[in-house]
Amino acid sequence: MINIVDLSHQILTEFNNPKVAIDMTCGNGYDTIYLSKIADKVYAFDIQTEAIKNTTKLLDENKVQNVTVIKESHDLFDIFVSENIDLVIYNLGYLPSGNKDIKTETLIVINSLEKVLYQLNTNGIVVIVIYLHNTDESNKIENYINKLSSNFDVMKYQVLNKSDCPYILRINKCK
Ligand SMILES: C[S@@+](CC[C@H](N)C(=O)[O-])C[C@H]1O[C@@H](n2cnc3c(N)ncnc32)[C@H](O)[C@@H]1O
Repeated sequence: MINIVDLSHQILTEFNNPKVAIDMTCGNGYDTIYLSKIADKVYAFDIQTEAIKNTTKLLDENKVQNVTVIKESHDLFDIFVSENIDLVIYNLGYLPSGNKDIKTETLIVINSLEKVLYQLNTNGIVVIVIYLHNTDESNKIENYINKLSSNFDVMKYQVLNKSDCPYILRINKCK
């Protein structure tokens, strides 16, 4: 069976020698630690104290030193990240085994995407992991990225014969 998180990580390896990467929703830190292995420098954002604690603990336990963990909403990433960016991951929804009321919000995700696409290097990749199909959030995000200019390639990775599987939206900046 396809593991959607592994697939999202595999997509990120297509960028050669990434310098700067962002985990927009660090949660328990699994995407962050993966990014720390492939990129020179990583920024990890989350709005939730528990997520910041969990991510920091995981990074400390693994002696990771190239990550800056920031308790702030991802639409404000540009206050902290001035460099151009090579890789970005969003893992939408709520913290697994955490407070289900604290979850990503469509307009905030779209605001963040709008800014990050501008700051993305040519050949840069944005991966968005979505757990539920046909929700207000997934529909609005898809509508937004479907309308991006031809400077971007937009792709969807979806298991077609299982309706409740998570899926991936991917954006590549072509120029
Ligand atoms: C599905 S979890 C992320 C899982 C994580 N990537 C991992 O590897 O464990 C979604 C996370 O998004 C966070 N979140 C929700 N709104 C956010 C926002 N505006 N900015 C940053 N993080 C946000 C939640 O607090 C939650 O921890």
